[in-house]
Amino acid sequence: MASKMTTVCEYKPGLEGIPAAQSSISYVDGQRGILEYRGIGIEELAQKSTFLETAYLLIWGELPTKEELEAFKRDILYHRRIKYRIKDMMKCFPETGHPMDALQASAAALGLFYSKRALDNPDYIRKAVVRILAKIPTMVAAFKQMRKGNEPVQPCDHLDYAANFLYMLNEQEPDPLAAHLFDVCLMLHAEHTINASTFSAMVTASTLTDPYAVVASAVGTLAGPLHGGANEEVITMLEAIGSVDNVHPYLEDCLQRKSKIMGFGHRVYKVKDPRAKILQSLVEQLFDKTGGDKYYEIAVEFEKAVEEKLGYKGIYANVDFYSGLVYRKLGIPTDLFTPVFAIARVAGWLAHWKEQLGENRIYRPTQIYTGSHAVPYLEMTQRDPYPY
Ligand code: CMC
Repeated sequence: MASKMTTVCEYKPGLEGIPAAQSSISYVDGQRGILEYRGIGIEELAQKSTFLETAYLLIWGELPTKEELEAFKRDILYHRRIKYRIKDMMKCFPETGHPMDALQASAAALGLFYSKRALDNPDYIRKAVVRILAKIPTMVAAFKQMRKGNEPVQPCDHLDYAANFLYMLNEQEPDPLAAHLFDVCLMLHAEHTINASTFSAMVTASTLTDPYAVVASAVGTLAGPLHGGANEEVITMLEAIGSVDNVHPYLEDCLQRKSKIMGFGHRVYKVKDPRAKILQSLVEQLFDKTGGDKYYEIAVEFEKAVEEKLGYKGIYANVDFYSGLVYRKLGIPTDLFTPVFAIARVAGWLAHWKEQLGENRIYRPTQIYTGSHAVPYLEMTQRDPYPY
């Protein structure tokens, strides 16, 4: 009995290694560098699938037939526009605000417009999935335009999901290779087991609130620099390094200051993240076509240097290390990198939301109380000053 109590009460900071759910959505083997969505290897999906097909696979558990995929794409296309009152609301956001905050607020606002929650109705689930997947990119692109005082660019009906987003962002149709590579980036970021934002989505979902609140809470969690926000910080870091010659001095300085190196390390992967490998090859394809970038040379040299110094601790490049270089080349502003991550990850959040509803129990973990007991209430005159 005593040993059982110890196991139950053992505290693991960050819940490391504690299973918090059973899931059949994705699988990570951090020692061998394997990532699978519904059992299919990420490398094969990146080669053969598309983001929307992958989103369907994650959410409904199986690859769609041709007809199912066509219907899904048609539904998404139909729901891409956002209501003018959402645009009006977004126009009031301060232009200096971070796009992730704008996205969180607008994702939550969708719940005001589609408020008839019916979690036991498959049609409600399907429509919510479609609306969220369809509207999130439009809202990200709209904020990018509106913060400059421009009207948002309307979605373009003849462009598919990835190409349409780049079009709304840059006001011109992207080159087919750029659109394809961006679509692959979305696939790579679509799902990753029970990471911080997904857990946040699952906790929110477990209260049986609406899916817009689920997505809004996950967006808020993704925003932090230890999670999705790292891709922004990587670019800032590469710019600060500035030249290949400065790679080693910069790294030495980080190591001396014991500061975390952005784009490296992972709770689960102890080898190079398989998504980082694919992203690196995308960067190379893009630069072959459009011309190199000195920051890629710096990145490659920096990765080698970090591996030499920290590889023994299992610290290697993660998904955020190379993604920013692709996004920059596609004309995506740095502060939109994390919203772009959200556009992709929404597929995983929705898959977990749907799975959670299937066998729901509200999340209510325990804590180990470290405070005092039976403390007497001190009258104001008896209290010592306390720094405020
Ligand atoms: N740079 C330098 N040292 C590191 C790094 C890093 N990026 N990551 C981990 N370490 C060291 C850490 O100092 C610690 O060393 P020691 O045991 O000697 O004190 C050890 O490795 C374990 O680190 P941890 O912080 O306890 O590991 P964690 O599993 O809690 O954190 C992480 C994982 C991703 C938050 C962390 O590696 C990190 O902060 N990385 C930089 C931020 C980043 O790139 N985030 C994106 C993660 S991947 C995409 C996503 O999840 O969104």
